[in-house]
Amino acid sequence: RAEGDPAITEIQDWNRYSGPGVDASPYGKPSDFEAHVVRRNVAWLTADPVSSVNFTPLHELDGIITPNGLCFERHHAGVAEVDPQKHRLMINGLVDTPLVFTMADLMRFPRENHVYFLECAANSGMEWRGAQLNGCQYTHGMVHCVMYTGVKLKHLLEEAGVKTAGKWVMPEGADASAMTRSIPLEKALDDCLVAFKMNGEALRPEQGYPLRLVVPGWEGNMWVKWLRRLEVGDEPWHAREETSKYTDLLADGKARRFTWVMDVKSVITSPSPQMPITHGKGRTVLTGLAWSGTGRIARVDVSLDGGRNWVTARLDGPSLPKALHRFYHEFDWDGSELFLQSRAIDEAGFVQPTKPELRAVRGANSIYHNNGIQTWHVATDGVVENVEIS
Ligand code: MTE
Ligand code: CO
Repeated sequence: RAEGDPAITEIQDWNRYSGPGVDASPYGKPSDFEAHVVRRNVAWLTADPVSSVNFTPLHELDGIITPNGLCFERHHAGVAEVDPQKHRLMINGLVDTPLVFTMADLMRFPRENHVYFLECAANSGMEWRGAQLNGCQYTHGMVHCVMYTGVKLKHLLEEAGVKTAGKWVMPEGADASAMTRSIPLEKALDDCLVAFKMNGEALRPEQGYPLRLVVPGWEGNMWVKWLRRLEVGDEPWHAREETSKYTDLLADGKARRFTWVMDVKSVITSPSPQMPITHGKGRTVLTGLAWSGTGRIARVDVSLDGGRNWVTARLDGPSLPKALHRFYHEFDWDGSELFLQSRAIDEAGFVQPTKPELRAVRGANSIYHNNGIQTWHVATDGVVENVEIS
């Protein structure tokens, strides 16, 4: 096969000349050959790119960690460029001692490191009424998974002393949208973090630099970025983001509210519409991601025939609660058409539903919390499309 291969017989420039020195790029960036691996926007989804979303290129990634520069962004008023010297975190409301922390103050509290996924409740929201967007970047790319370093919210609330009547916490952002949500005190005292690092370095401005709330397993909207205030109250505030938005309209016209936990979900990232099979028949690697706001993923099943037959996929890499899990299924493709599906099961026993099963309970009016099984059609030429099986 290698006979006469110019990739071997011809001397390349990189083999002939020295390359750039160590000072050429003090903050490194990916190879120019990877320039296509970027977050992407779907222009028609929102009225303008300031209150909008872009999507993680899941199809190009492997393992469970999302590189910082590829984490999807969702802002309601663009990126706030906050000066950390001028940033303050206030705790007020039903507390014994209202407090204000500078960034330097926060650095004196004990820190923890945790890997968590963040999924926007609107992820897969365009797919409620049928297959629409052609690529897992767009159907499932409102999710990222990084290692956060931060202080437990519990420590900060304890420092202020929550009064007996205090049952809810309202985080507020310092951006122009001043994002607010109501979080039950139980969750705030459980595993929430006030985070300042992602994957070891400072949060990116897009992700809330210098401070963001981490609400493990719960919908992304609650993970307030540019966090400047935490108010303790005795009731939920019923903010815009938990009434007119982030509630789930059912078939009978009633809406579910406070649907915080992100349900068990998975998607095959390759093959997928942006990752067709280009090598022809034979040895083929199928891979994807699974996650659950309830805890760890126990098992992922894969079907090549639209859900008639299932095999158990191979989970690989760390299995951490409320984090992405990576799965693989290696098979010999005979060149015939395939209907690829994945089905995740979490450690609590929750099973990812089919889309018809989900619609039977939830109707199709919703935007949020679509965790239905995704189907990719692989044609005999290896081209992949988003389809649905009824
Ligand atoms: N926090 C503030 N202050 N402003 C915002 O617009 N968007 C929310 C949440 N926190 C938002 C915010 C929404 S809807 C989501 S899904 C997540 O942040 C997105 O986090 P990311 O941009 O790191 O992906
Ligand atoms: Co969101």
